Formats: sequence, structure tokens, C-alpha cells
Amino acid sequence: MTTLSNEVAEPSTSAGAPLLRLEGVTKNYGPNTVLDDVSFEIGNGEVVGLLGDNGAGKSTLVKIMSGVVPMSSGAYFWEGEQLSRVSRPETERLGIETIFQDSALVPTMSITRNIFAGREVTNRFGFMKMREMDAITTEILDSVVSIEGIKSAKQLVSSLSGGQSQAVAIARAVHFKRSLLILDEPTSALAVRATEALLNYLVHLKSDGVSSVLVTHNLHHAFKVCDRHIVMNHGRKILDVRREDTSVEELTAAVVEGAEGIKRFRRGNALA
Ligand SMILES: Nc1ncnc2c1ncn2[C@@H]1O[C@H](COP(=O)(O)OP(=O)(O)O)[C@@H](O)[C@H]1O
Ligand SMILES: [Mg+2]
Repeated sequence: MTTLSNEVAEPSTSAGAPLLRLEGVTKNYGPNTVLDDVSFEIGNGEVVGLLGDNGAGKSTLVKIMSGVVPMSSGAYFWEGEQLSRVSRPETERLGIETIFQDSALVPTMSITRNIFAGREVTNRFGFMKMREMDAITTEILDSVVSIEGIKSAKQLVSSLSGGQSQAVAIARAVHFKRSLLILDEPTSALAVRATEALLNYLVHLKSDGVSSVLVTHNLHHAFKVCDRHIVMNHGRKILDVRREDTSVEELTAAVVEGAEGIKRFRRGNALA
């Protein structure tokens, strides 16, 4: 192949485009700007950490990526094509699944019914295939989050502990994801072993070509599994860096002290 210049040509097709790209996303709630001109990409088969202090705008970004909250302005590209309308039916069609920070489950229904709510497996007469759905539920709960103490997929969600409910929300997203799994502080209620299992699962997903976005307060968790880190501060993106170009210490400085923290950290390192 011959190249005439060093410039990279704009691809005329979507080949080589990132899976998801947000461009200049702004979100206002009344007079408050909670996201200010945020742009980033999620690559194919990439695990991206979305970090920042409370109120930084992480969950709002998660909701915009998931199509459950509209942006005030900005653009949403999927595999290089701009979406004209970003709605939940559209993101579901693209294969995006999200574990929301406040995932709502129906306590009076079984674990299985919660996982398949609205997306039940049915036979050709429209009857639910409960046995098949119970079997799938049992399998995901065993394999991905390895939560102890869940006796049966038929158990009511109201009988579960916080960590077990969290596992149900995880199982639901894990089962339906096809291209992008977004996790908003998924490990907050999980025990150490279940957390390890979930983090390992994200790495494993990459080999299946599924990308993920991990929102977490635990920078060690993020650093362990994420290929790239995006740090938000007061609605702005202040850092977007590949794992090999940063450290837990720099991420901590960015999350705790914002843009000044990054500068201070880099100055300190330059002197060292
Ligand atoms: N529905 C809403 N109405 C008004 N303000 C909101 C709403 N959702 C979030 N916010 C505000 O947006 C800011 C960012 O919140 P959020 O995205 O939840 O941050 P994070 O997940 O990083 O803690 C906060 O100041 C929060 O109060
Ligand atoms: Mg949040």
C-alpha cells in the first residue's frame, strides 16, 4: 500500500470507526449545566473506566449513552453513523445493556421474572417458557457473579440481600448485552469474591468483542481491568488516558483534586 502523505484520511465508510462516540454532549437540568461539552469514544472490544467524584456527571453520561435521558445538545455516533434519535428502543437494538446505579427491580416478582421483564422467552403461542428462563437465570447467577445464598431463580427479589439484588441487576444486563455493557457502580453492594468475578468477566468479554464502560469509585478496580480511563469533574472531561500512560496515583489526583491535581501530579513527576 502506498501512502501519499502522513495524514490519516477520514474514512468514507464506518469501517474502523469506534463503537460509540459522543461529540460535544451538554446536559442542562433547568439552569444547571451538569455535562458541559463532553466528547469521547468507546472502542471495539475496549473496557473504559468512567471516573470522578460524586456529582461529576457520570450517571448522567451513563443514562445518555443508554438512551434513557436525552442530551440537551451534542451528537451520538454508533460505528461511525450518527443516530438521529437516541432512545432506549434504539440502544436496545444496538445491543447496549446497562446496570444502572439505582437499578429498579420488582420485589414481588421472582428473580427470573425480573431478569426477563418485558423480554420474556415465549413459545409460538406466546406462552412464557418459564423452565428455560429459570435455567438461564441460574446459569448466569452461577457463572458471572457467583453470588452465594441464592437458592432458586424462582425466589422473590424481596427475599434477597442488597448484594444479591445487585447480582440480579447484573445478570439481567449480562444476559441481554451484545455490543456494549455499561456498569454504574456495580460492585458497591458486592462481596469481594463476587466483585473479582465481575471484574474478570469484563476482561473476558473483550475476547467476545463486547466493550464495557465501568463507573467505579474504586480506582484500583478500574486500573486493574480498564484499557482507558476517562475522568469527569463538575460535568467536564478532564482526563482521557490509556492505562499504560497513567497510574493509580495520577487517577487519584484527578478524581480528588480535578484538573489542578493532574497538573500537580505531572509537575511532581517531572521533578522526580
Ligand atoms: N434528574 C435530575 N434533575 C436535576 N439534577 C440532576 C438530575 N440528575 C442528576 N442531576 C445533577 O447532575 C449532577 C451530576 O449527577 P450524576 O450524573 O448523578 O453524578 P455522578 O454519577 O458522577 O455522581 C449532580 O449535581 C446532580 O445533582
Ligand atoms: Mg452516579
